[in-house]
Amino acid sequence: MTEPRDLLGRPLRDLRVSVTDRCNFRCPYCMPREVFGEAHRFLPKNDILSFEEITRVVSALCGIGVHKVRLTGGEPLLRRDLPELVRRLAAIGTLEDLAMTTNGLLLAMSAQALKDAGLHRVTVSLDALDDQLFRRLSGTDRPVEHVLDGIRAARLAGLPVKINCVIQRGLNEDQVLPLAEWCRDEGYTLRFIEYMDVGNHNRWHAASVVPATEIRARLESFYPLEAVEGATRGEVARRYRYADGAGEIGFVTSITEPFCRDCHRARLTADGKLVTCLFAENGADVRGLLRSGADERAIRQFVARVWGQRDDRYSELRAAVQPRKKIEMSYVGG
Ligand code: GTP
Ligand code: 5AD
Ligand code: SF4
Ligand code: SF4
Repeated sequence: MTEPRDLLGRPLRDLRVSVTDRCNFRCPYCMPREVFGEAHRFLPKNDILSFEEITRVVSALCGIGVHKVRLTGGEPLLRRDLPELVRRLAAIGTLEDLAMTTNGLLLAMSAQALKDAGLHRVTVSLDALDDQLFRRLSGTDRPVEHVLDGIRAARLAGLPVKINCVIQRGLNEDQVLPLAEWCRDEGYTLRFIEYMDVGNHNRWHAASVVPATEIRARLESFYPLEAVEGATRGEVARRYRYADGAGEIGFVTSITEPFCRDCHRARLTADGKLVTCLFAENGADVRGLLRSGADERAIRQFVARVWGQRDDRYSELRAAVQPRKKIEMSYVGG
């Protein structure tokens, strides 16, 4: 079967797979306690795709162009036996890149098992180094040191590590330099992500976004940067290297410089919906298909049909889109 193209000619290359909608943090911009408190009903177990079902989907899609898979959540390390899923996915011969995005809290105890199972690399979300601020931004009473331990454990296990940091105006701008310096010293690639209007509860407003150019200018007054040329198409971060050779830093400019034109990414939710944009209203039901006994060919045809109807470019149209209910970030996996 040929590789599907969407209505704007974009191929499907990259799949983000959410393995749970639960999280052990309550970041106010993603899972505010007022909404995701005791009363919130997370997905029931039967609704969640089994490892066998996830592997069937990934394996089918690897045959029509997907070569990059990222495990996400909620918090993916809350899914029991995650290394077993990694082992199954790593065995798919044509899969070139198998990564995971995590909040890092449980990483110290699982990094080695994930590496042994065949995970290629991890990305850890970290919005502050300052302990008090970290706890406030993550809605947790756990110390930031636990996350730092997880990051170090991943490195010791031989997993390349990236750090994702969302900066919000007036909240954690003062963490830009400490985080950059910590990552330089320890050898991690840091990426600053512009604060986005995902989901329905993050009280996003344009004034809370700190543009990447501003963060870059602030860093450059201490550490000169050079653009990294030849970054691959479809990569969301603009990459720079420190002129003194101390590694790389990136910026995800979803607000100020959208990259929809090169968006080759689909998302599979924990309950088996195929979502073609981070800002979508809903997704297509792959689980029903799987549970009706569909074979690889039928899965490919279904996904190719959904992808073939795609014309998403929310970030480019943001200002013109009427407000509507969107999928939650914690459900769709970022
Ligand atoms: P690499 O493969 O290491 O480059 O990572 P990645 O950028 O694919 O994944 P990561 O989870 O680190 O994503 C970085 C940030 O960019 C997250 O906040 C995502 O929500 C955001 N992001 C990723 N993909 C998209 C996208 O397609 N659209 C928008 N608007 N934001 C995205
Ligand atoms: N804007 C930008 N990034 C966000 N993330 C979660 N919510 C937002 C938002 N509103 C980030 C997390 C994680 C990644 C998957 O998405 O920090 O690193
Ligand atoms: Fe959990 Fe990530 Fe959402 Fe924070 S941003 S609540 S760590 S899923
Ligand atoms: Fe892709 Fe949608 Fe993000 Fe644009 S807004 S880059 S189409 S996920």
